[in-house]
Amino acid sequence: MATTTLVILGASGDLTQRLLMPALFRLHALGLTRELRIVGYAMESWSRERFERHIHKALQSFAPDYTPAHWNRFRRQLDYVGGELHPEHLSALKDKLSPGTLFYLALPPPLFGTAAAALGQAGFAKAPRGGWRRLIVEKPFGTDLASAQALRQAMHTHWEEEQILRIDHFLGKETTQNLMVFRFANRFIEPIWNAQHIAQVQITYAETLGVEKRAAYYDKAGALRDMLQNHLMQLFSLTAMAPLAEWDPEVLRNHKVEVLRSTLPITPANVDTHAVRGQYRAGRIGRKQLPGYRSEPGIARGSRTETFAALRLEIDNWRWRGVPFYLRSGKRLATNYSEIAVQFREVPGALPKAVHAGNNWMIFRIRPTEQMDLLVTAKRPGLELAGRPVVLTAPYASSDDREFSAYEQLLTDAISGDRTHFLRFDEVEWAWKLLMPVLDAWQEGAPDFYAAGSEGPASQQRLLDPGHSWRSIA
Ligand code: BG6
Repeated sequence: MATTTLVILGASGDLTQRLLMPALFRLHALGLTRELRIVGYAMESWSRERFERHIHKALQSFAPDYTPAHWNRFRRQLDYVGGELHPEHLSALKDKLSPGTLFYLALPPPLFGTAAAALGQAGFAKAPRGGWRRLIVEKPFGTDLASAQALRQAMHTHWEEEQILRIDHFLGKETTQNLMVFRFANRFIEPIWNAQHIAQVQITYAETLGVEKRAAYYDKAGALRDMLQNHLMQLFSLTAMAPLAEWDPEVLRNHKVEVLRSTLPITPANVDTHAVRGQYRAGRIGRKQLPGYRSEPGIARGSRTETFAALRLEIDNWRWRGVPFYLRSGKRLATNYSEIAVQFREVPGALPKAVHAGNNWMIFRIRPTEQMDLLVTAKRPGLELAGRPVVLTAPYASSDDREFSAYEQLLTDAISGDRTHFLRFDEVEWAWKLLMPVLDAWQEGAPDFYAAGSEGPASQQRLLDPGHSWRSIA
């Protein structure tokens, strides 16, 4: 019997095909999951062979390291059970489980609560002696504060918080994890990582992608729910949190929550100076002429959903008071460009006239490549004592490094029971609390337009302090 079983609910769906199976396939190829049995569960009454064919096809399309030889080894790990999300149907899984079993809810979000409850009613939340049971839940966790709280309630009828692994795939990204290592493992960073030395922080996640085939989901969600509430809030709290007293997932998550709790609430009165929304109109990216959001298939002609959202957040604690954190993300922007950029304050004192020291920036770049850049001023070679800006760049990975996708990282952690890179409920809850006034205000009015291929709506400028400007993504 395999020592661990992963049951994927929603095994015939898109997430399983595009992300989960390719990740499991690679981990298996590297010898990291030999003891794992993977049981697909979905509504289709497929045989195991039919499921294998389905997964085989997916891997041929989506697994970059697919080989027929490896497929022949991998397929032996697969199994399948068909059924609805009812306890009686789910109990057919009983004989397939191992002492250690994970249930992965790769389902449409409205089914998370039902699935967790049905698994609980089937008796699967209770671990056998010496074993364990875990539940992996995809994002989004709720669509607002009340629905997130209701979902928690539904899950906690059967499952303990410690058993629930809430996924935010950004936490599996190398740069996100590097934020923790780089900040806390280098002596020179911590003493200057505060309002005395830092002037502003900009967190940008710009995509050229449009709404793709996700109109039904995206038109209800919008950029604030899709990107800011989860991914960017995580980058925000990891950038701002205090150093840990102990490397422990609970201590880490306490520190992240502390940042959110110390963030000044956005109020109905100041939404306009703290939040901006935009929607793309027709435009051009490179040579490609692209339609506006409202002309995309499946989007209502008069849709007021935002495809760009920007926030100004301020943390009212000793470390950060007076430092604006600007967060923004949008679809159909000029380039795929993403970074966490920290600007330091100007240097005091006198310098030779020709030096013109610019502000230093420390940049953790996620896209187009993962790298770290430090913008400094150095002497310009020559007879004059003049300065010029220089970028000290560290590519994040070298050619010898083996890189892993976010899902490869998170599945490995979930199997080994490491909760460090998963969300605790209070993180999700605080993020919703901070955004609710914005979501409420945006029920009225409409987003500002921006052309596809631009850097977002001009109105994003109004979030900035005098003297600050958005970094270019072009
Ligand atoms: C997802 C959002 O969570 O993250 C998408 O739903 C977005 O809209 C994606 O495109 C971005 O993440 P990545 O890792 O694909 O760049």
